[in-house]
Amino acid sequence: MESVNNMENNSADHRREEMSIGIAADHGGFELKGQLMAALTFAGYLVKDFGAHELIANDDYPDYVVPLARSVSRGEITRGLAICGSGVGACVAANKVPGVRAALISDTFSAHQGVEDDDMNVMCVGGRVTGSALAWELVQTFMNADFKVNERFTRRLAKVAALEKGLE
Ligand code: RB5
Repeated sequence: MESVNNMENNSADHRREEMSIGIAADHGGFELKGQLMAALTFAGYLVKDFGAHELIANDDYPDYVVPLARSVSRGEITRGLAICGSGVGACVAANKVPGVRAALISDTFSAHQGVEDDDMNVMCVGGRVTGSALAWELVQTFMNADFKVNERFTRRLAKVAALEKGLE
């Protein structure tokens, strides 16, 4: 049993080392970003900070979220986490970047099913809506989920991808 536990721990460590996550937030998500960055780093993830790097009371979420989304789209980072006050603006902006599938998440079911069925690659959270403990559970659930390769899921995603190419 001991060695089974060790194998499970090793494979979780390996997964964390292989996956990178980018994080971005405006003033509405700044505090939560700091908390989640600390938790992710402590857990062993490679985290790239797209800002804001300081609290600027009147900054604009696209300035941080769009570079994050582009980096996910280019495959430079595995997944993205975008935070604003409600999470709505971050989600709207991220979804404008081709190749990004972003969703505003506040429950653990959607945090994993969004990846498993819909290949969500950017998770958005509301810094003024979701507390830090739940947000950390959502992030862990998101990072531990994998897309389930399945004909009906890939068929639906192909229809979404066609929209980006103007082929609808
Ligand atoms: C900023 O005040 C707020 O509008 C923004 O963080 C976000 O909630 C937008 O959706």
